[in-house]
Amino acid sequence: MKIAVLPGDGIGTEIVAEAVKVLNALELPLEMESALVGGAAYEAYGHPLPDATLQLAKQADAVLFGAVGDWKYDKLDRPLRPEQAILGLRKNLGLFANFRPAICYEQLVDASSLKPELISGLDILIIRELTGDIYFGQPRGRRTAVDGHFPGAEEAFDTMRYSRPEIERIAHVAFQAARKRSKRVTSVDKANVLETFQFWKDVVSEVGLQYPDVELDHMYVDNAAMQLVKAPKRFDVVVTGNMFGDILSDEASMLTGSIGMLPSASLNSSNQGLYEPSHGSAPDIAGKGIANPLATILSAAMMLRFSLNQEASAVRIETAVKKVLEQGFRTGDIYSAGTTKVSTIEMGNAVVAAL
Ligand code: IPM
Ligand code: MG
Repeated sequence: MKIAVLPGDGIGTEIVAEAVKVLNALELPLEMESALVGGAAYEAYGHPLPDATLQLAKQADAVLFGAVGDWKYDKLDRPLRPEQAILGLRKNLGLFANFRPAICYEQLVDASSLKPELISGLDILIIRELTGDIYFGQPRGRRTAVDGHFPGAEEAFDTMRYSRPEIERIAHVAFQAARKRSKRVTSVDKANVLETFQFWKDVVSEVGLQYPDVELDHMYVDNAAMQLVKAPKRFDVVVTGNMFGDILSDEASMLTGSIGMLPSASLNSSNQGLYEPSHGSAPDIAGKGIANPLATILSAAMMLRFSLNQEASAVRIETAVKKVLEQGFRTGDIYSAGTTKVSTIEMGNAVVAAL
């Protein structure tokens, strides 16, 4: 089982090191190879996604990814910015299905800014389409950009588009996921304003006819944003486009107390996948040893489940994470009085001990 390890920027290196430590502790026949990506790759090779890194990712069964980005690259022309590395990996590997679970761990129910009764027991799965929408619209070129900006320009634009096959395949992913859960799908759109999302809604409804056992409802994205903080437990599987999914998954993560807890999986049609925490590179706390590695460790569990067919090992990691929370270990982002504050490395060690 070949894993490409791409730590990236900011806290990426610290949290990925802990996930690798946990994977090694499983004593599975895993072959891990690391490469630079994002700002780190730009510094070394002048490009955020060097060809060698892309080839390593393509040839692997799975990619374990940290995070990319730093404000210091804000002036770079867009194709050279660290974020292009993750977008390029998603596009080149065809990783169209992004799973972003938002689960509230009972021990962290007080870490959320929402009332405990609203979020206790929360278990939402956001399924975000990841290779279409306004993120990959035409035209992408920006001939007049200088240092990533447009001095003197009168307008700028991006185009939003979805094709029928793109919507159909993500809808199937959502309905199939719902069959393994509580059989409810909410499709989030903006059909009242955007043609792209009227089409989205129509195609999702058509695909839904093939899943009569799954209940489908449709919700406008603004209302969904409101319902997520008003009554989050009304949701089970949420399926939406790339842009709305980006925004709603950040919102949903905060329901659970900390974005530092949430893993994600991005899969293509052959179950090759990229696994990364839902959070970013957090340059403000990079190098301090205080980042929460649990989202990345839980992403490694998803990798074992979805791409490497090692369900038992995935469950072992998830159980170990629950155990360290029960034992009271907390990084700063989830710390509360009466618990034990630990560093990134200590948290990784605690998970290995629990394993
Ligand atoms: C995410 C991130 C990325 C996105 C950025 C880093 C390009 O916010 O994975 O949610 O917008 O998709
Ligand atoms: Mg995002």
